[in-house]
Amino acid sequence: MSLRDHLQAVFEKRFKAKPTYIVRAPGRVNLIGEHTDYNAGFVLPMAINRAIYLALRPREDRYVFVESIDYGDYVEFSLDEMVRGRHSQWAEYVKGMAWALEDSGYTLNGWEGVVAGDVPIGAGLSSSAAIEMATARAFSALGSVAWDAANMARLGQKTENQWIDVQSGIMDQMISAGAVEGNALLIDCRWLTLKPAPLPPGVSIIILDTATRRELSHSGYNERRAQCEAAARHFGVAALRDVTMSQFIAGSAGLEARALKRARHVISENARTLQAAAAMYAGDAAEIGRLMNDSHASMRDDFEITRREIDTMVEIAQAQPGCYGARMTGGGFGGCCVALVDTDRADAFSEAVSERYTQATDLAPALYVSSAAAGAEILQA
Ligand code: GLA
Repeated sequence: MSLRDHLQAVFEKRFKAKPTYIVRAPGRVNLIGEHTDYNAGFVLPMAINRAIYLALRPREDRYVFVESIDYGDYVEFSLDEMVRGRHSQWAEYVKGMAWALEDSGYTLNGWEGVVAGDVPIGAGLSSSAAIEMATARAFSALGSVAWDAANMARLGQKTENQWIDVQSGIMDQMISAGAVEGNALLIDCRWLTLKPAPLPPGVSIIILDTATRRELSHSGYNERRAQCEAAARHFGVAALRDVTMSQFIAGSAGLEARALKRARHVISENARTLQAAAAMYAGDAAEIGRLMNDSHASMRDDFEITRREIDTMVEIAQAQPGCYGARMTGGGFGGCCVALVDTDRADAFSEAVSERYTQATDLAPALYVSSAAAGAEILQA
């Protein structure tokens, strides 16, 4: 049974009716541009063919009733009485998104629904942004909210920052909301503009889940953010996006050693992201791969957000025939890597990488070939 059929069946069982809408919001893999989003820079993510689905029908009152198949959990809350932290985490994303919408002036309608997904949780593929954007899509399906990808992404980030208490940037919500099928998106995180960038023909994106998870990643993430902000202050700019590599080299004297490395990563990564987008338009897979490899080295040596298993996975991937490049993807400290591989060699690549990674680490990785999916949408129920 497909996930959608299952969702529909569970909905009918719980609410004794058919859903009016099914909405879908995808997870993402970032091809390049890591930790550049909160430095007002550029990112180049792609929505993956794994998503959160939400089946719903409107209610006459201002209650939200929602069941999660994945968590075997059911919650109810009133839009007039939203309290933080009362429910399990998955439901806090739903409630937090409702809060962010109401807080910015929308008057929402209640609904009842069932949610399920196939985005691996905690793997760095943005299952939380997907549940936020699915929730926003649900409210938009009911007519309470005019759908605008950048605006919904902004409110998803507000949910993370103010409701969940994670100081993340806006990349994950932007790609989940605004993705264009068959394309990665070059996102300008200062102006929130999106530019589709097609994948070169004949290459596949392979996600390499190391089977490690991001323990203690919040503190590492927030610390990196603070170091970047300190570096921006040193250069007298609003964000590191405003510093070029030559300005960095000329002006880095006096910058604390760690902040200097963090800034060098962000400034070089921002430039690599723009170069990678240009290489996408030129259909130059070799160049994109080279930039991905450089990005990994920069995250490992300057931003220091990788770990042994991640570096091992990337080294194994990079050494395989038909691999143009590989790097860690997402916030860091565990989770997934991403590789750009000749489609003809994708099967042999996946087999060899799985086997060698297990030999090296004793862990069983998960590998997925992913097409570039569309962003959040309302499907026929
Ligand atoms: C996480 C955050 C994003 C971004 C990445 C790193 O995914 O949610 O905003 O900062 O890490 O690029």
